Amino acid sequence: MVPESIKEKLEKYGQEHVLKYYDEISDEEKRALLRQIEETDMSVLSAAANPDELAKKGVISPLPCMELDEIEKNRESFETTGLDAIRSGKVAAVLLAGGMGTRLGSDDPKGMYNIGITKELFIFECLIGNMLDVVKKADSYFHLFIMTSEKNNDATIAFLKKKNYFGYPEQYVHFFKQEMAAATDYNGKIYLEEKGRMATSPNGNGGWFISLVRAGLLDKAKEWGIEWFNIFAVDNVLQRIADPVFVGATIKKNCVVGAKVVRKNAPDEKVGVMCLEDGRPSIVEYYELTEELMNAKDEKGDPAYNFGVILNYLFNIEELERVVKQELPLHIVKKKIPYIDETGNLIKPSEPNGYKYENLVLDMIHQMKSCLPFEVVREKEFAPIKNPTGVDSVESARELLKMNGVTL
Ligand code: UTP
Repeated sequence: MVPESIKEKLEKYGQEHVLKYYDEISDEEKRALLRQIEETDMSVLSAAANPDELAKKGVISPLPCMELDEIEKNRESFETTGLDAIRSGKVAAVLLAGGMGTRLGSDDPKGMYNIGITKELFIFECLIGNMLDVVKKADSYFHLFIMTSEKNNDATIAFLKKKNYFGYPEQYVHFFKQEMAAATDYNGKIYLEEKGRMATSPNGNGGWFISLVRAGLLDKAKEWGIEWFNIFAVDNVLQRIADPVFVGATIKKNCVVGAKVVRKNAPDEKVGVMCLEDGRPSIVEYYELTEELMNAKDEKGDPAYNFGVILNYLFNIEELERVVKQELPLHIVKKKIPYIDETGNLIKPSEPNGYKYENLVLDMIHQMKSCLPFEVVREKEFAPIKNPTGVDSVESARELLKMNGVTL
């Protein structure tokens, strides 16, 4: 029997079809499906009707960036401040590894991808190697929190355990899972991925802080004296993590967030750019950047919106706690969603076939009261792996790794 409350919920949101195979599935599957329906937030799905409504922006103005020459001049003093913070345990790293990496097309978690040629070199190994450089310099370990999702948590943990965390001490590594959201067709109807299971996907990288709090790790972090979280994406194999110069610059400039940025290589490059929106720090996505903003100049005559974010941010914990109750805007993103068809066969689409509903970390920047955009050299710190070939790919990252002296 399907409880009345479940029927009402499905009717309210027009999702009755998810019970299509209810009579065919086992009792255990029935219970699991009912639980899933109960726990899923369906109120967000109505956004599918007006995807463009979500992209409203305020008044955009430039936010000056700390450029390379200024960083060079102050390198020593920034580095000293940063190393002090790391040594006194105030900095932790947070790896966002809950994504599905659908563009790369591997079923394994992205960090398990081997980018080596003559030897094995896993993405996780590169990232931990980069952290160990800082550990060596600071002569002190710092905590690493790893966000996974229901879809890749067990595989991620098993892999890292088997590889002995690539030399990082286990007691400094902590895992937590992000929440899931339903995935729908373009009409907002939830797909079924099994007869007794609705299709879900991780709810976007913006959920990282609330998920970390729910996992009880914020309390632990505070107990350990952590004041800053350096969050970073799983797929940029060149990035510096807990970079002491970056940490020191953010602290010395009294900012509650630091954002690593690269100079854009063309006005229409597909990266989100740092700016002010209604006077607060913000990021305009490349598809929201109008011609006018693209061509705007600052007082030096340089492009006014010239620095793109690379998903490496340093957040002050107190500020995160201040904003944690504020809701983040919803983004609906076209993605490939595996589903069962009319006859119950599992289809793995090769093209996007529906929407995922996500919160994005870039929206957290807009909640913060101050932000330091901090320029880094693209060729040294930005080698994202999104696709197997072409732009931002395994191929391009390999070239960049080689340029930086990494043996593949
Ligand atoms: P991407 O925007 O590249 O998304 O993530 P993705 O889902 O991993 O990849 P595609 O689009 O399907 O190919 C940027 C970073 O945010 C993390 C990813 O793991 C990556 O480090 N992320 C993304 C999460 O942790 N959770 C999410 O729900 C989405």
